[in-house]
Amino acid sequence: MSLQRMSRRCNMGWTRGMRWATIPLGRQLRDLPHRNWRRPMLRELMDSLARGRWGFEWRYWRRKTPWDTNITPPEVMAFVGEHPPGRALDLGCGTGTNAITLALHGWEVTAVDFAPRAIRAARRKARAAGVEIDFRVADVTDMRILSGPYDYALDIGCLLALKGEGRIKYASGLARLVGPAGWYMLYAWLPRHWRGASWGISPQEVESLMGSQFSKIRQVIGEERGHPSAWYWFQRR
Ligand SMILES: C[S@@+](CC[C@H](N)C(=O)[O-])C[C@H]1O[C@@H](n2cnc3c(N)ncnc32)[C@H](O)[C@@H]1O
Repeated sequence: MSLQRMSRRCNMGWTRGMRWATIPLGRQLRDLPHRNWRRPMLRELMDSLARGRWGFEWRYWRRKTPWDTNITPPEVMAFVGEHPPGRALDLGCGTGTNAITLALHGWEVTAVDFAPRAIRAARRKARAAGVEIDFRVADVTDMRILSGPYDYALDIGCLLALKGEGRIKYASGLARLVGPAGWYMLYAWLPRHWRGASWGISPQEVESLMGSQFSKIRQVIGEERGHPSAWYWFQRR
């Protein structure tokens, strides 16, 4: 190769490198080749941020919490009407509506949520209602701080936010905490997309998570604002 051609090559490389370095990072990422691997990675990242602790904390902070209705569902009211009070555990209790209902019906309640803002609101609501509840800022995928046995565990909308390994840890913690013949009631969306992330769990997966330690007593498939969801009633073997 002639000296002239070599120098032209080097110059081109240098110019390209310099030009690349002056392009803003956002554009560099956008222009990277192999978009096919970047898109799913970003989607995965956004998805886990939305479902993580600070994603929920952010929603409580912005009051973008459509689930926070201050109404205890009829399924829970029916359970309370049919069972004598004992020890209850509310998993992903949010601002404590259902924990407070249980406490008002004589249950001794522990309620767990990983969003500090939700637990602060729950404590305020419990004080106003005149009930004592053991509220904990904790992750349902690591419930070693709790000790059973509980007679009733309730999950409205929490398991559906977990993924893979988290679900397995949740199920094993739950099996440790719920006493023999104790109840576990779950409300969960079936798999769907919501606000840029994937949520929900299929009845088959619920069964395979819980089936070895709990007997499924009942399951009702319904819908919430046009999307399928389900209630499950399990009893500890
Ligand atoms: C859809 S909201 C339902 C709240 C409440 N159960 C209700 O019915 O109002 C789900 C709640 O689960 C909590 N959550 C989600 N993942 C959690 C986790 N890994 N550990 C503890 N809480 C979690 C969220 O912070 C949120 O408060």
